[in-house]
Amino acid sequence: MTQGISRKEAIDRLNGLLSEEMEASMRYLHLGMMVQGLDRLIVQKVLQDNLEETLEHSEQVAEKILQLGGCPAPKIRVEFEEKRYSGKEALQEALLFEQAALDGYRDLLEHVDGGGDVILEEFARQQVSVESEHVAGLKMLLEE
Ligand SMILES: [Fe+2]
Repeated sequence: MTQGISRKEAIDRLNGLLSEEMEASMRYLHLGMMVQGLDRLIVQKVLQDNLEETLEHSEQVAEKILQLGGCPAPKIRVEFEEKRYSGKEALQEALLFEQAALDGYRDLLEHVDGGGDVILEEFARQQVSVESEHVAGLKMLLEE
């Protein structure tokens, strides 16, 4: 196992990320329902793509947990506001989810970087790259 981080700590961190990804899926699903106005036509597509990606990421994180001999055990408590969003507001929300995911994977990478578990290290690095692109993409959409 890694020198820098114990197997248990790696599993705990991955379960934290799994919780975040699954929560983000539900939030994307809800945002897609609540976005209004003409932008709805375009923004719903972005939200749907992001929803699918969070589901994919959830599966990938769960796979890593299983590979480490752990059990995927997300802790999720989500409440949704009775609120409608303009296209721009929905994208601003999405940016928050993506930034949170990026921070989470960055944190994981810091803990496994050079620790000896190459699979986990590469996974964390790849996720940092993917989430950075999502953040950058959303920022471009939000530019005036
Ligand atoms: Fe993302």
